[in-house]
Amino acid sequence: MKLVTIVGARPQFIKAAAVSRAIVARNASLGTAAIQEFLLHTGQHYDEVMSGVFFRDLELPEPNEHLGVGSGPQGWQTGRMLTRIEETLLRERPDWVLIYGDTNSTLAGALAAVKLHIPLAHVEAGLRSFNRRMAEEHNRVVSDHLSTLLLCPTRTAVENLRREGIDEAGSASVENVGDVMYDSILHYTGVAEKRSDVLHRLKLSPCNYGLVTIHRAENTDDPVRLKNIFKGLEQIAREGLPIVLPLHPRTRKVLYKSSSSSLGPRSSSLLLTDPVPYLDMLLLEKSAKVILTDSGGVQKEAYWLGVPCVTMRDDTEWVETVEAGWNVLVGADPDKIVAAVHSAKPGKTGGNYYGDGHAAERVVQSIVKFV
Ligand code: UD1
Ligand code: UDP
Repeated sequence: MKLVTIVGARPQFIKAAAVSRAIVARNASLGTAAIQEFLLHTGQHYDEVMSGVFFRDLELPEPNEHLGVGSGPQGWQTGRMLTRIEETLLRERPDWVLIYGDTNSTLAGALAAVKLHIPLAHVEAGLRSFNRRMAEEHNRVVSDHLSTLLLCPTRTAVENLRREGIDEAGSASVENVGDVMYDSILHYTGVAEKRSDVLHRLKLSPCNYGLVTIHRAENTDDPVRLKNIFKGLEQIAREGLPIVLPLHPRTRKVLYKSSSSSLGPRSSSLLLTDPVPYLDMLLLEKSAKVILTDSGGVQKEAYWLGVPCVTMRDDTEWVETVEAGWNVLVGADPDKIVAAVHSAKPGKTGGNYYGDGHAAERVVQSIVKFV
């Protein structure tokens, strides 16, 4: 069986690495290359710190093809990917196309596959923020409705799809396989503890700093929201908790363009760094006192690593982390951000919302057994 896996953005390298490992293990156990994976990188993320470093940390093989699409407006970027992915699929003629998550690379991959009548498997299907202003929400909804095999990370995701009428009664198949990012964290946290010296490099002490990531368009592209977020973060830093913020390039660009002194990186009281490699990130997350983020993946990682999380968004797809008491939504309100850090505490333990750490194996089994 030939499978074309489409990736392009940072979190997709992490998810795809878990599944690629499961493919290699299955082939090894059968003693034959029963599944041939062709890894297609759209080039949505291209900086070394956003792409290359993940392939090395995660021991992902180099992509079989790199489309080099790069950055641009939503429609331009998605359209250019669609054209180029279609060319690859016409040439490679795979039995399946595999897509991950909710980025423009996901949507372009979905469209290219269905137009060529190639069965489409979507990992992380069924997530919803119910916020139609998010590009990610458009990408998820459309990709899910085009998919043949919808591989959900949670029961909530399965229920979301059922409510939209996607279920076994139609031509699509919905399965709760668990979260491949959970597989990844189980696999790599011990490795990170052995290999990463990030705390030493950044002069941070365990349990004595807040780790922040910000990249969501609703925050970076709204000057009032972004300014309010930084107001909250700087207040926390002034009160004595060091704040480390590995800057997504999208956020870095906005900050460097900003004429407002409170947003200019040079005047910031925060420790701003380049995006960090995955292993460094896992160690930074695990050792933080509190995590503040607008990332999807980071909310879950905080939960899995037992670190209280403050989510600087108005909604979340990962509702289980909130229900379990590990995550609180504060929007972009500086007072709420500060108050949430003051009151951050562990939530309930023992919930098994994201599977058993074998989601990637189930993804592979589901594709193989699909008829
Ligand atoms: C994308 C996804 C988002 C995901 C995030 C993961 C979409 C619509 N959004 O958002 O769901 O959470 O990836 O990180 O697909 N840039 C660089 N270098 C790079 C990549 C980007 O400088 O290697 C800059 C460019 O100015 C670009 C901007 O970052 O315009 C945004 O990049 P883009 O891939 O369009 O969206 P993300 O914000 O990264
Ligand atoms: N991540 C990383 N380095 C960073 C920031 C994030 O390795 O500097 C990892 C993080 O641990 C998680 C993934 O990237 O596994 C999340 O990606 P991102 O926040 O870019 O996207 P989202 O999950 O919001 O789509």
